[in-house]
Amino acid sequence: MNGSPDTDFILFGGTGDLARRKLLPALLSLHSQGLLGPHTRIFSVAHSPGDDDAYRRSLSQTLPHPDSPPDVWTAFEKRLHYVSLDARQPAAFAALASRLTTGRPRVFYLSTAPSLFAAICKGLHTHDLIRPDSRIAVEKPLGHDLGSSQAINNEIGGYFQEQQIYRVDHYLGKESVQNLLALRFGNVLLEPLWRREWVRDVQITVAEQEGIGTRGNFYDNTGALRDMVQSHLLQLLAILAMEPPPSTQADAVRDEKLKVLAALEPLQDSAVLTHTVRGQYLGDTTQTAYRDEAGVRPASPVETYVALTARINNWRWAGVPFFLRTGKRLSRRLAEIVVTFRDVPTSIFDTPVAGLQANRLVIRMQPQETMTLHLMAKSAGDGMRLQPVALNLDYAKSFQHRQQDAYERLISDILKGKLTLFVRRDEQEAAWRWVEPILHAWNHIDQPVQPYASGSWGPAAAEAMLARHGLYWHTGLDPETLTTP
Ligand code: BG6
Repeated sequence: MNGSPDTDFILFGGTGDLARRKLLPALLSLHSQGLLGPHTRIFSVAHSPGDDDAYRRSLSQTLPHPDSPPDVWTAFEKRLHYVSLDARQPAAFAALASRLTTGRPRVFYLSTAPSLFAAICKGLHTHDLIRPDSRIAVEKPLGHDLGSSQAINNEIGGYFQEQQIYRVDHYLGKESVQNLLALRFGNVLLEPLWRREWVRDVQITVAEQEGIGTRGNFYDNTGALRDMVQSHLLQLLAILAMEPPPSTQADAVRDEKLKVLAALEPLQDSAVLTHTVRGQYLGDTTQTAYRDEAGVRPASPVETYVALTARINNWRWAGVPFFLRTGKRLSRRLAEIVVTFRDVPTSIFDTPVAGLQANRLVIRMQPQETMTLHLMAKSAGDGMRLQPVALNLDYAKSFQHRQQDAYERLISDILKGKLTLFVRRDEQEAAWRWVEPILHAWNHIDQPVQPYASGSWGPAAAEAMLARHGLYWHTGLDPETLTTP
């Protein structure tokens, strides 16, 4: 991989949780791989008072990897600077302006509450810090519905052109999502099958074992639909279902994703009742119930789990249900796509069609990256008895080198000016357009959030939603476990 040009990387929210857990470690890793420009500097901006030395000292406790040679950190910390300013005061940006170098690209990475975005853009503009080669990166959630997301986009769009705006969805930076593109468009094998004539249903699961942790205030105003479905799951769906783009150029890919999002069948009030399930985790002797978490209202109706049935109204996918589910405190951490193909048209064996398991392609993205094709084969010995077998590809075993973290890839792309892995405004708004009526219906229909046990696979209603189609959730079964429940 090539390095990036010398850049001033300005990280708003540089003392925050995301910066410490993800962004700064990603920058450190890019540095240690020689992928930052030799003179690239990082300016962490935050409200609290401080200076370069104190900031470097505070990070030196947690950031350097214990196994990495000390000179890596010594060289990296020289890149780190700290600017204390109140983003709500445009005049305060003079403190930043005086430290930036002219004549090199600037990346403004906003890892702050969206309520600060407009003020930050204004402060940068007031001091003439935005140049044609400047870029701005913004973290989700961008808004809580279509209107608020449009308002944020308008605010940022008042100062930056669309091609300067990098909307981060970290799922797009994951190696496994890149592999999805490789699988679909680097092989001819699947393309003829990748359509309504051959696919019976698609399931996408992103399950987490953790609860909401210390994010109660944020989460209780957000919920799983906004936090995960509007962004990560719909992006996965779009990549899985899109038409082959003519190239990997940003707009070529984003145009195709947009078409999928725009073709999603809207779910209105009565359909929401039958096509969605929302759940909330209960506690037990060792785990806190969602409603008892810090920052959560005692009778909160907010969902920590959502399952839904989506349909894409286009020629490739009409009639194929896409089942999506995500939740916290589920049985285990798992991100997986299961494409189930149709049954054989008739059985020539003693086993009836119903006894032959449908072929399935299981693309597991987390915790390990694997791909498994479930086929039927003859079992050894006398007679013509068929049994399921799995063809398994384990990416870690096949490709021995270290996988890049999602944020490393995304930051590296921002530094190089590559937009393909970032969400365009129209895509983001199309996703909100589909999600918004669901949120609206949940607020108006008489269907309370369903409790589920911590460590389970979510509310029973989610199983029932698939059972109505004669189906069950495949995800969560090990590749070796080919038996149906
Ligand atoms: C974030 C959500 O975008 O993604 C979190 O806000 C969630 O609630 C996280 O835990 C999951 O990301 P990953 O990479 O751990 O699957």
